[in-house]
Amino acid sequence: MARPKIALIGAGNIGGTLAHLAALKELGDVVLFDIAEGLPEGKALDIAESGPSEGFDATMSGTQSYEDIAGADVCIVTAGVARKPGMSRDDLLGINLKVMKSVGEGIAKHAPDAFVICITNPLDAMVWALQKFSGLPANKVCGMAGVLDSARFRHFLSVEFGVSMKDVTAFVLGGHGDTMVPSVRYSTVAGIPLPDLIEMGWTTQEKLDAIVQRTRDGGAEIVGLLKTGSAFYAPATSAIEMAEAYLKDQKRVLPCAAYCNGEIGVNDMYVGVPTVIGAGGIEKVVDIKLTKDEQVMFDKSVEAVKGLVEACKAIDGSLA
Ligand code: APR
Repeated sequence: MARPKIALIGAGNIGGTLAHLAALKELGDVVLFDIAEGLPEGKALDIAESGPSEGFDATMSGTQSYEDIAGADVCIVTAGVARKPGMSRDDLLGINLKVMKSVGEGIAKHAPDAFVICITNPLDAMVWALQKFSGLPANKVCGMAGVLDSARFRHFLSVEFGVSMKDVTAFVLGGHGDTMVPSVRYSTVAGIPLPDLIEMGWTTQEKLDAIVQRTRDGGAEIVGLLKTGSAFYAPATSAIEMAEAYLKDQKRVLPCAAYCNGEIGVNDMYVGVPTVIGAGGIEKVVDIKLTKDEQVMFDKSVEAVKGLVEACKAIDGSLA
């Protein structure tokens, strides 16, 4: 049986890291696509040359032609630009929306059966647009944000409790932005919910509130430290976790930006929700029950995403 084919649309910081991780995990053969000439070819060759030492069997190639992604099983999209100083959120939206149009058309033509994971920001609006532009089934197009936001939350919690992060489960709901909702009630240390850990005196409400806020600001914290560019190791690792769940039919329960059709009160839009990922793509959106307070925070986050989607429709009439 041929190895799976993984197409990475965008060969920048995240794209290159995705290619390296896919090779190290032997998930399949990798094609890096980018409009920048030489960049995907250079990264593909560099990673291929690490193969003899690492001992992985996977082919790496770089291209500027969508034809080379033909028949891809998975497409991970990072194409676009990051927000630069002086650029408004609407400017960014307009630029990356155009990128999603060309990427969506390229995938529709050459890899219509792929499982598509979008990472480009603003995430929830871009994945919505990518699904529209590509016309692929909604269960085969999703966005990576929840796994990353949850990983940040889990990391901060494991440091606070001084325990292995393997034993910390957590998930974050809502849009990938300031309004995201780290779920305290559904997050645990070895199955013990965080509110119980406060009662047990293992942490305090104040400390937990600070961790929740740090999770919301997780992306900005890295940007502030790096000064040029944004996070790429953890975003790439998170998307690879999702791709692996699909390729190996793992039925992982992972939060991601998925198309909701009534679940958790969300209709006809993409937002961060817990899902089951297996060979069928997004096989299920887990329709969890929220408390009144959680629902208020979640609804606020959904409204913020709606605002971005409306802005997309105003920019590109074909989406309206
Ligand atoms: N088609 C293909 N590639 C494109 C296109 C396009 N139309 N437009 C831009 N690109 C490429 C750029 O040439 C660049 O190599 O997308 C790549 C983006 O890489 P980086 O700028 O290094 O960005 P990265 O850190 O990888 O983040 C990518 O993910 O987290 C989000 O906000 C982040 O939207 C950004 C995306």
